[in-house]
Amino acid sequence: MNFPALRLRRLRKNPAIREMVAETHLKPADFIYPFFLLDGRNKREAIVSMPGIYQQSVDNALIEIDQALKLGIKAIMLFGVPEEKDPQGSSAYLQNGVVQNAVQEIKKTFGTDVVVMADTCLCEYTSHGHCGIVMDGHVVNDPSVEALARAAVSQAEAGADFVCPSDMMDGRIQTIRWALDDAGFQDTAIMAYAVKYASSLYAPFRDAAESTPAFGDRRSYQMDFRNWREAIREAEQDLMEGADMLMVKPALAYLDVLHRVREETDLPLVAYNVSGEYSMVKAAAQNGWIDEQKVVLECLTGIKRAGADLIVTYHALEAARWLKQPNA
Ligand code: PBG
Ligand code: ZN
Repeated sequence: MNFPALRLRRLRKNPAIREMVAETHLKPADFIYPFFLLDGRNKREAIVSMPGIYQQSVDNALIEIDQALKLGIKAIMLFGVPEEKDPQGSSAYLQNGVVQNAVQEIKKTFGTDVVVMADTCLCEYTSHGHCGIVMDGHVVNDPSVEALARAAVSQAEAGADFVCPSDMMDGRIQTIRWALDDAGFQDTAIMAYAVKYASSLYAPFRDAAESTPAFGDRRSYQMDFRNWREAIREAEQDLMEGADMLMVKPALAYLDVLHRVREETDLPLVAYNVSGEYSMVKAAAQNGWIDEQKVVLECLTGIKRAGADLIVTYHALEAARWLKQPNA
């Protein structure tokens, strides 16, 4: 009797065999690296809750973008931290807004070598910190969508390859698509934050973007984390409205959702490994409780295995370095 007949360990015998049968391969081009941009020059402020990530002016961002490109990363995501905020979030669509200026400068420097994705939302620009226009204490949908479309067109004018609406208003993808087309930007793509949950894992980002809501929370527009069927409806809606890529956010506590959306759609699918997920790993690593490199590569590979084509992650620069040169 040969017991057991099936020996799965045969395919785990040594590194060469394991490499040969590996099903998931993480690579630097899978990553999208986020930036928090300040107006002006020569600025670089550490974000305490996100070790290794900075608020910085575009001149400093250019240095990091150059490093990212040399490591094989193709795409960056830009968030603005403007000096001026008002209730309408009007600095989101200024021709010389912080993101618009940065996009121009980044494109002038790197051209088509870098894929520039601009976050399209109001929360970084509104004095109250909500992702839309507030009337009588409520975030109102349709006026918010109009403002978002203006922001998207201004980002396209500046040269963004992708606009990335992260607000979760209804009908914004269609309105933005029409506005872009009307303005002659048929070739500007839309990455929709299609499935975005109201998550407590965004807290460090809100320090970084200075976008904590002054009152209430985002649960009237972001999704309830108890729901997955609703995620399919959100994804289908954004697909029908003309999204070029879809996102699920956050990533690690939502891998089931990511997997299900993957099965429902053929669009490129992006997962956002959010700030809280990053900070928890950083904190544990700083305490010496985990091996940072191994944990990060395991988590990012898990996100890809669950169905992500691309991953927005603050670990991008370091992870790309580790992929090129393990144990560096
Ligand atoms: C704003 C926005 C948020 C994130 C990306 N875009 C925060 C929020 O919705 O409050 C979170 C990203 C992160 O936590 O890394 N629309
Ligand atoms: Zn927002």
